[in-house]
Amino acid sequence: MDTQILIDEAIQNLQSSVDDTAIIACSGGIDSTVAAVLAHRAVGNLLNCIYVDTGLMRKNESNEVSAMFSDMDIELKIVDASSLFFKSLEGVTDPEEKRKIIGEQFIRVFEKEQNKCSAKYLIQGTIAPDWIESGGGERDIIKSHHNVGGIPEEISLTIIEPLREFYKDEIREIARKIGIESSERQPFPGPGLAVRVLGEITPQRVETCRLACDIVEKMVFEAAKKGRCDLPWQYFASLLPVRSVGVHGDVRVHGETIVVRAVKSIDGMSAKFSTLPHDLLAEISTEITNSLKGQVNRVVYDITHKPPGTIEWE
Ligand code: XMP
Repeated sequence: MDTQILIDEAIQNLQSSVDDTAIIACSGGIDSTVAAVLAHRAVGNLLNCIYVDTGLMRKNESNEVSAMFSDMDIELKIVDASSLFFKSLEGVTDPEEKRKIIGEQFIRVFEKEQNKCSAKYLIQGTIAPDWIESGGGERDIIKSHHNVGGIPEEISLTIIEPLREFYKDEIREIARKIGIESSERQPFPGPGLAVRVLGEITPQRVETCRLACDIVEKMVFEAAKKGRCDLPWQYFASLLPVRSVGVHGDVRVHGETIVVRAVKSIDGMSAKFSTLPHDLLAEISTEITNSLKGQVNRVVYDITHKPPGTIEWE
């Protein structure tokens, strides 16, 4: 269908369902940004855009998101909830439990904001794969996406999901059409680095993963720009709960493991691992172990398609 028709329909649906103050959580990702721009066009000042700093975002993410909204002339309130998120995730290692806790904490933050602006609605950028993978009916739970399966049963906001029937490639089309700067950015999961830090989530382990992710993002992007490889659909690092023995100079190290993941995909529902050149992988590995000396002494590359793997490790 023509993208402009999809946009007009989504705006009309928002106008007919939002008759009071609404909150929208903007992570800066393409889904929530598209939802925010459409909702802003539909209901203007009834909309309160909130960015929750969970402490689980990528390097410089909060500043970049702030600047993007300011360029679009949409007011964005930043709420620092990082200590709340870290506290509630203390000692939790099970992936589904993490996702449920994160979903619940997001809602609790929104409810606090709701009290400040008397909001009735919560608009979410949920897209089709989010609820398909979160299970329900005949569908098995692959993983509870924070904005679907992670939502607690007791919630005092009415949820509206204007992008529910869309897939990622359609969202990208809409984003290009409405001039969203991040339309070509790679996807980033709502629960943030929490799903890339396997095992216990501590501020230090998140920081390790953040640095490794930043290295992978920058080096792969630069390599693609120079024509050394195709730009993958998604490319990042995860921190594994596996220690192995290594050596720095003459000193034994018992350090952690980073896995580099890069995939080709269209909509995230299936994916093939990217065949990045070995010399690029070697450069990435050296950069990670040099930057995280004493912490990470092993870097591996994930060569699993989806299925049978998923794109993220949790
Ligand atoms: P998986 O790992 O399920 O990921 O193959 C498919 C795509 O979805 C992203 N992803 C999420 N996005 N909330 C999101 O907004 C989530 O809970 C979530 N989990 C995974 C993932 O990064 C990939 O692009």
